Amino acid sequence: MGAGKTTVGRAVAERLGRPFVDLDQEIERFHGPIARLFDQEGEAFFRARESETAREVLGRGEPSVIALGGGAPATEAVRGLLARHALTVLIDVDVDDAWKRSKGGNRPLARDELHFRALYTKRGPLYRQVADAVASDADDAILASGGVHLAPLERLGELVPGDGAVALVADSQVAGLHGAAAQRALGDRLASTHELPRGEEAKTTAVAERLWRELRLGRGGTIVALGGGCTTDVAGYVASAYLRGIAWVAVPTTLVGQVDAAIGGKTALNLPEAKNLVGSFHWPAATVIDPALLSTLPESERRAGMAEVVKTGLLAGEPLWELEEAEQVRRCALYKTAVCLRDPHDRGPRKALNLGHTFAHALEAAADYELSHGDAVALGLLAALRLSGLPTTDVERVLDPKPVRVDRDRAWAAMARDKKSQAGRPRLVLLEAPGKPRIDVELPDDEVRAALVALIEG
Ligand SMILES: NC(=O)c1ccc[n+]([C@@H]2O[C@H](COP(=O)([O-])OP(=O)(O)OC[C@H]3O[C@@H](n4cnc5c(N)ncnc54)[C@H](O)[C@@H]3O)[C@@H](O)[C@H]2O)c1
Repeated sequence: MGAGKTTVGRAVAERLGRPFVDLDQEIERFHGPIARLFDQEGEAFFRARESETAREVLGRGEPSVIALGGGAPATEAVRGLLARHALTVLIDVDVDDAWKRSKGGNRPLARDELHFRALYTKRGPLYRQVADAVASDADDAILASGGVHLAPLERLGELVPGDGAVALVADSQVAGLHGAAAQRALGDRLASTHELPRGEEAKTTAVAERLWRELRLGRGGTIVALGGGCTTDVAGYVASAYLRGIAWVAVPTTLVGQVDAAIGGKTALNLPEAKNLVGSFHWPAATVIDPALLSTLPESERRAGMAEVVKTGLLAGEPLWELEEAEQVRRCALYKTAVCLRDPHDRGPRKALNLGHTFAHALEAAADYELSHGDAVALGLLAALRLSGLPTTDVERVLDPKPVRVDRDRAWAAMARDKKSQAGRPRLVLLEAPGKPRIDVELPDDEVRAALVALIEG
């Protein structure tokens, strides 16, 4: 009572584009005012109706955000349903705040302060036992829903769900820098460690096959991917197919990984024909983000990540690039988590994350991948903003994109071949305004080509 379940629940539902169900309102819809039920029929009668309604709501099967009545978890059947069908987030509140918010209202159990405080003490342990996560606001609840934890690497052991064996996967560079700390954190659960080549070399069918053949995990095992987007992409893909799918945990160590690649469940391998041509949707059981790991990141890799930070800031309509690093990572991770929970299979709003990327992919392909992805995205953002009729000053100031020397016809042909093109015509993400993305925009070829050519030197 008084924790703010309804306020937080409503905010989470709105940000995830899911229906919001308030259990107390559902009870009142069928049985009349709760205060009257309590006074006329007694608490036992009310609890029975509460449990009945909770079971009905939890059994609907439609992804939704439910504000559960404070007494509902006391019923064993409800606890069973929560364990099977829900991610349960405890909204943590101090008893003094809870009382201040609840007193004087029409809640039957908030009429007497002593009784209220006793109930708080009694229910606390039960709530903690039932909760999958503890949150104090909508941001925390969204991160918890996506399994995203901002936590130091030392806590990795406790954040890998379950108690099965763990295989740790890292590229040679990251293994040398942070592998030992990850191994220590995983403790006795660590069954094996696997080293990958650095960069895109890791995202091959040969590397995936080697991992499948090396792994000795059962179905209860977990792959922990420690590294940048290349490591998490291949390890996530390997986990999605090994024994028809086992759990994996992402521990991103690059800025690209922490704000983008390790969140949202897309995994991928490259084929000679194209990058990311093979992959799966396989949401990590947890993503553990420790911004302190970025302290060893070379400047060029940080720059690559900044391009994604600026992209996220433009999509969110907030200058996230101006925040200090840990907060910048948290806010970007939060934005991506919410968009991906809203559209896990990339059929609608998630496409907005492609802002600037259609141009970037075309330039990278025309440069035979000699152009860094971050520099390509910075250029792509310029083009997207120009076509949106919006100022490019922030992109220019923060990312300082420089025109590239590539063949114009090759770049244009690559754009038409893009996975997301429709009948050879690129479908773009533009902005109506910062914070207001428009997806699937088709513009006349000459306009798009002119925007592309403006990114090319000479
Ligand atoms: N699945 C997704 O949703 C998604 C989203 C964006 C990008 N991606 C993929 O991510 C990949 C790019 O990811 P990336 O930029 O992280 O590249 P990466 O994994 O190759 O890492 C970049 C380099 O940084 C090194 N490194 C990593 N962490 C370090 C640290 N803490 N200190 C020092 N060095 C460190 C690595 O050894 C590597 O050489 C691309 O293949 C892209 O397709 C995937």
